Amino acid sequence: MYKSIIRPLLFRFDPEGVHHFSFKAIKFFSKVPGFSSLSRKRYKLQHPALKRHLFGLEFDNPVGMAAGFDKDAKAFAEFSNLGFGFIEIGTLTPKPQEGNPKTRLFRLKEDGAIVNRMGFNNGGVDAAVERLKKNPPVTERSRSERSRSERSRSHTLIGGNIGKNKTTPNENAVDDYIICFKKLFDHVDYFTVNVSSPNTPGLRELQDRKPLTHILQILQDLNNAKPVRKPILLKIAPDLTDNQLLDIIGIVEDTKIDGVIASNTTIERKDLKSDITLQKEAGGLSGAPLTNRATEVISFLHQKSNGAFPIIGVGGIMSAQDAIDKIKAGASLVQLYTGFVYEGPALVRDINREIIKQGL
Ligand code: FNR
Repeated sequence: MYKSIIRPLLFRFDPEGVHHFSFKAIKFFSKVPGFSSLSRKRYKLQHPALKRHLFGLEFDNPVGMAAGFDKDAKAFAEFSNLGFGFIEIGTLTPKPQEGNPKTRLFRLKEDGAIVNRMGFNNGGVDAAVERLKKNPPVTERSRSERSRSERSRSHTLIGGNIGKNKTTPNENAVDDYIICFKKLFDHVDYFTVNVSSPNTPGLRELQDRKPLTHILQILQDLNNAKPVRKPILLKIAPDLTDNQLLDIIGIVEDTKIDGVIASNTTIERKDLKSDITLQKEAGGLSGAPLTNRATEVISFLHQKSNGAFPIIGVGGIMSAQDAIDKIKAGASLVQLYTGFVYEGPALVRDINREIIKQGL
């Protein structure tokens, strides 16, 4: 139904408008009695073979919603009914910011892709914390409360993806990550340090060994001082060279963070079929053209590190097979954004079905 009726309708309108409309729609329908349980029945598979134990967390299934979709933690509870095992909110920054001027989101339909230059538009970490407080993460719920809310949100885990404000110079970037880390600490199940968005000028320079080690080590020190630490993951760009990827492996080993998310959107434009003006839009490209490169990065990290740390595979998962390829390349979990826009929630269910079928 999504591909035959809903998508053709939605794709007639401006992508960012549709994004906001879909939030309103899911919020509205979730209030209709029976809708949420029907969605869970249709899309949320429960099977022992889907469970994953990673970073000290238990994932109901290994398919997550990638960062950027529910940036402000406005609808993660509703989206969790569509079958996701975990949802990553953010990227959040300390202060609210508008992001880049509109238009900043483009569909490249012939390529099954999206170009975006949103620029970390978000309402700021404080506003997100207020929303998260109303729906605490699994790891922070008391036992009795947990069994009650498990009925509604099951075990969907929440990741907090953190970044820096555009106006914060790179020399002070660490302060922004610290603010977000401290404020979100009690309200998310894991953290993602995002230094790989192409849409905040200079951000990706923070992937260099020195600044990155500095940021991650400070967050780890704060983390280790807590009675119970939270997993910290690093999200990287697919455009890093082999040497830079080897550096990433070294940094993960040095700072002992918990894993890597590979990958963010790419600045590459290769072999695209869509209109040339769309291809030339500045920003990060996601979806089908990213599938192979993201899998290559996962495979490289997994092999060169001898599987030393878990990898979350993301980038161009448009079919169940794409997810299986990433898992076979070394990903322990996967995430979707563009595939969800093009294929709808059936994709989440199909991936989970295929994982059960293949016994992965
Ligand atoms: C993103 N992505 C993203 N990533 C991130 O770490 N923080 C963010 O705020 C965003 N924002 C964002 C907005 C839009 C419109 C898109 C399309 C993507 C990147 C996303 O999480 C994912 O890494 C890439 O899109 C690659 O996966 P897909 O889309 O090919 O499945």
